[in-house]
Amino acid sequence: MTDRIPRIGRRDSSAALLREGYTFGAHRFLETGSDAFETRLMLRPAVIAYGTEAARLLYETDRMTRRRALPPTTLTLLQDFRSVELLDEQPHRHRKAMFLSLMTPAAVAELADLVEGEWRAGIDRWAGSRDVVLFDAVREVLCRAVCAWAGVPLHPDDVAIRTRQFAAMVEGAGSVGPRNLRGQVLRHRAERWAGEVVERVRAGELRVDEGRAARVVAEHRDEHGRLLDAETARVELLNVLRPTVAISRYVVFAALALLQHPVARSRVAEDDEYLRWFVQEVRRSAPFFPMVGGRVREEFDWRGRHFARGSWFLLDIYATNHDSRIWDEPAAFLPERFAGWDGGPYDFVPQGGGEFDAGHRCAGEWLTITLVERAVRLLTTAMAYDVPLQDLSVDLSRMPAAPASGVRLSGVRPAA
Ligand code: HEM
Repeated sequence: MTDRIPRIGRRDSSAALLREGYTFGAHRFLETGSDAFETRLMLRPAVIAYGTEAARLLYETDRMTRRRALPPTTLTLLQDFRSVELLDEQPHRHRKAMFLSLMTPAAVAELADLVEGEWRAGIDRWAGSRDVVLFDAVREVLCRAVCAWAGVPLHPDDVAIRTRQFAAMVEGAGSVGPRNLRGQVLRHRAERWAGEVVERVRAGELRVDEGRAARVVAEHRDEHGRLLDAETARVELLNVLRPTVAISRYVVFAALALLQHPVARSRVAEDDEYLRWFVQEVRRSAPFFPMVGGRVREEFDWRGRHFARGSWFLLDIYATNHDSRIWDEPAAFLPERFAGWDGGPYDFVPQGGGEFDAGHRCAGEWLTITLVERAVRLLTTAMAYDVPLQDLSVDLSRMPAAPASGVRLSGVRPAA
């Protein structure tokens, strides 16, 4: 590694990033022999880096803000301008505590049970079809389950519509053009719907149990004791529902790993510890969030470069999850690597790093791990299926990536 940050070319790299996807950073880290390089994205200077040190820079509490750190076309499909992610210091901590209050072990277990119930009901439906695309089917299972868990009414006729809306936001986030535009249109409709839910809870027309997300968000008061304004409340309700449906992406990567690693498949079915390692390895190896960015709040020097206030810094998550300084044989799928793993808060960052409460680490990480574990158990113990010939390749130039076919299953039946 060099101890300066090389600058690559003079041209803007936005088109190359969109063209190369997850491998954009890796190509340049290799070319420059450095774990950080400087370029221009959207005509603005940006430093892109990977590894533990880079993760620490981004996630050390209060060093960087998320304001102006993501392209608006991405931000408006994911967390959005009014979200917890764009807050700093005390207002951030206060709002983040609201999200974390939803993630008690009992609440997470309840959602996992709801997912299991929907999944088992799904098996009966899928058994009647010639084949089923797992990605679509799991999105729907998660959509039904998370709405019930959150106290959000979901009429059976609306399940497909809402599932499509949540999926379109995530699908559109890593692109510009028609895919992004479709995401924006469907996002707009989902916001209207979520806004009505919040309004009805506030007006007392919709009764939701205490502690459920729809009520917690609708009644949340900021650090000055004020209710969230209507737009913020609907955005934050969506920030619980959408990413939970997005866990389907890890589930299809887990299903793919089960197909590719039959020995692991037999172990996850009965060994709880191995199941945990397996799911961690899926989260490490799967291309999901390619990068996450911040703007410097407190200036510092790193690798011979001064980072003034407002400097743009991006952590390459995919490269960090494949960093040979952290992981032996990073390209291999080895669940055992997590045996006795005592990684620190900046080593393993598929859902961000650092602290949960004071930093920007994902509020839904425990939930994600639990739901993927439950899904893997269901795939290996609750159902049998065949896997017809199909294109299971993963195109790393597409963000977000997934197996091309979405993992098509045929002959689905309850396990004997
Ligand atoms: C589906 C898998 C998921 C992935 C890959 C993922 C990824 C991430 C990442 C990388 C961040 C950090 C962003 C940053 O540093 O600015 C983040 C933040 C966040 N995630 Fe997730 N997430 C997932 C699931 C969830 C779930 C299930 C929820 C809630 C139910 C959730 C809610 C949040 C929230 C509220 C934040 C903002 C935290 C903050 O700024 O303090 N995510 N997520």
